[in-house]
Amino acid sequence: MKAVILAGGTGTRLRPLTLSTNKHLLPLYDRPVIYHAIEKLVKAGIYKIMVVTSPDHIEGFVKLLGSGQDFSRSDGKQIQIVYGIQNEPNGIAYGLYIAKDYVDDDDCVLYLGDNIIEDDIGPHVRAFKGGAQVFLKKVKDTWRFGIARVDKKGNVTAIDEKPAKASSDLAVVGLYIFDNTVFDKMIDQPKSDRGEYEITYINNKYIEEGNLKAVVLKKPWFDIGTIESLHDAAVYAKSKRRRK
Ligand code: DAU
Repeated sequence: MKAVILAGGTGTRLRPLTLSTNKHLLPLYDRPVIYHAIEKLVKAGIYKIMVVTSPDHIEGFVKLLGSGQDFSRSDGKQIQIVYGIQNEPNGIAYGLYIAKDYVDDDDCVLYLGDNIIEDDIGPHVRAFKGGAQVFLKKVKDTWRFGIARVDKKGNVTAIDEKPAKASSDLAVVGLYIFDNTVFDKMIDQPKSDRGEYEITYINNKYIEEGNLKAVVLKKPWFDIGTIESLHDAAVYAKSKRRRK
């Protein structure tokens, strides 16, 4: 299993903080935002990671993360971080497409770098047996997220991207496990009305095949895409540090 962390995008909702830097390089209490994604993946036993970002900020990531030398595996060996460049922020599915040759014949975890996830994802990574897996969390601000409709048996029947009128309160978290057919599902993918190659389109393809599983996360989750949520996540990180 390889992992792809998306760390591009424009960060417009975090301006002026993101006028001269990238949101994943901002501090979250005592560490840069992107550290959380890397530590979560390494803890789950994933050691080959591609960070995809924009040409404007690649230097900052290389300076911060290098080849991953500061993140240690439980067996003491090195993890390996490599980089991909997304020339324009034309969607999450396109960001993943940049990593196609890197992922090669493997399965992959797609981690949206602005997500702070508290649950241990290791058991889900180890249990993965093909198709795709999404992670859900109850929210009040449904208009900010992909929203999943789930049937009585707990199967996802559809995902709507940022619906004006939500059909449930279950948001799709920025963490996905895909088998290798994910790249075939991008062939002929249209852009959405907001001009992006949406990951929700890909997930709906898995739903059509009956191959999308869902797990509801139990612990806190933050998408630090707004000033408010960045602050909330930092307060949480501080309280967690104090408890240790
Ligand atoms: O956080 C979960 C939500 O993330 C999901 O519920 C939505 O279904 C999904 O579309 C996404 O929505 P956002 O509006 O939060 O996406 P955002 O544009 O903030 O981008 C998410 C991450 O992906 C962020 O770390 C930046 C990165 N990104 C985004 C785009 C559009 C890229 O690297 N390249 C891109 O082209």
